[in-house]
Amino acid sequence: MATNPWEAIEALEPARLEALFTADADRLALLTADVAGIHFDWSKTHLTQAAIDAFAALAEAQGLAAKRDALFGGQAINVTEGRAVEHGAERGEGSPESVARARGFQHRMRALIDAIEADALGPVRHILHLGIGGSALGPDLIVDALGRDGTRYDVAIVSNVDGVALEEALARFDPAATLIAVASKTFTTTETLLNAESALGWMAEHGVEDPYGRVIALTANPDAATAWGVDETRVLPFSESVGGRYSLWSSIGFPAAVALGWDAYAELLEGAAEMDRHFRLTEPARNAPMLAAFADLYYTQVRGCETRAVFAYDERLRLLPSYLQQLEMESNGKSVTADGQPVGRATAPITWGGVGTDAQHAVFQLLHQGTHLVPVEFIGAIEGGDTLAEAHHRQLLLNMFAQGAALMQGKANEDAARAYPGDRPSSTLLLDEVSPRILGALIAFYEHRTFVNAVLLGINAFDQFGVELGKEMAKAADAGDLDFDASTNDLIRRALGPA
Ligand code: F6P
Repeated sequence: MATNPWEAIEALEPARLEALFTADADRLALLTADVAGIHFDWSKTHLTQAAIDAFAALAEAQGLAAKRDALFGGQAINVTEGRAVEHGAERGEGSPESVARARGFQHRMRALIDAIEADALGPVRHILHLGIGGSALGPDLIVDALGRDGTRYDVAIVSNVDGVALEEALARFDPAATLIAVASKTFTTTETLLNAESALGWMAEHGVEDPYGRVIALTANPDAATAWGVDETRVLPFSESVGGRYSLWSSIGFPAAVALGWDAYAELLEGAAEMDRHFRLTEPARNAPMLAAFADLYYTQVRGCETRAVFAYDERLRLLPSYLQQLEMESNGKSVTADGQPVGRATAPITWGGVGTDAQHAVFQLLHQGTHLVPVEFIGAIEGGDTLAEAHHRQLLLNMFAQGAALMQGKANEDAARAYPGDRPSSTLLLDEVSPRILGALIAFYEHRTFVNAVLLGINAFDQFGVELGKEMAKAADAGDLDFDASTNDLIRRALGPA
């Protein structure tokens, strides 16, 4: 009789981390990997050979290899929406048809960037990118991480509908030298379209003769963009099968391509492709996204962890935690399986985090001595980003390493308030450098890890129906329909007056 693979996982013997090191002299060989310029170290997690075997058996039972092939093969694995999931094709890893289609769109983007550089759209010094969620977080991360030594254009990425955000960007831009990039997969998102209208109004107020002539659209819905007023020649389409939170590889990546230059953008895609190939071709026990997902599931399923924390010990990666919050929580924050049954176990943990060393002086108290067990992920780079004395980067990295060791070792003390229990897990990702190629690989690693988590839990990582209800209700309220509960009606009246 076939056994349930979860039984072996739930029966895994708990052992203290330090004992695991003592018991296995080859622990580092088992639990480290070097892929695409990233050194992965899961040795300070509770993964063991037995755990890897148990999760590999679950992966087999869940058909992970076939689902991975279906992902890259362009099959409609987003079952609830009946769509393929083809962000891989944007970096050259997908079915020949989808790769050819992506290349066609990239060619179009490159031609438009050439035209911008040749001043064919008038003088451009500033790029105002308007988008939200997946249409903002990826480009923001990339430009912030890689554009620190200067970019070809001054880029502002505005997402929030709070006018403060837009005004802050407009205050430093010259309307006559600004290009507006309206980034929206659906081209229906209220916040983005309202920001775009206000930005056009700002241009008109400042005497720009043809504001619409200064707008480009990045979208999977070109018809809506042209109906809204963007000239067809300035629409950069991408495929419907590229999900919003996976879209930085498509034309949504325009600000990165234009600000950092095409070569850097191509390297970003190539780094991601390198990770794609690793994910596709490597056996589970050596596969970085799979091992990371095995550790994730060990902590959520066996140890009951409700959160996981990510700390970038590198200012250049300060936006990574918020990028990962969308990637992981919007993908896997689900309660039903892909075929609509209650999932019956915890799904995505709450992803949170920040930047080291700052976070050490703010939230690490809870990690070391609090009652919650939180698996921590440290991310640092061997090559620093500053030109100051080496002491800065040395302190940064030593602090990161020391925190991982302290979480694991703990420290006994007769005074309970001063005792550290230890045995608190962490993983470390050590990047050779923060380059386009390695950043591409890093993001692709997180995408695949999220996918593996979903497959092992039997959920669909690629829909996000949970974000719709609140949006619909805001629209209803805007239309004057105050048929809410007494509290909500009262709040609306207090803040915005009678309907
Ligand atoms: O609100 C969630 C969401 O649908 C995200 O998945 C998406 O990235 C974001 O909104 C923006 O959507 P769009 O690109 O269609 O404007």
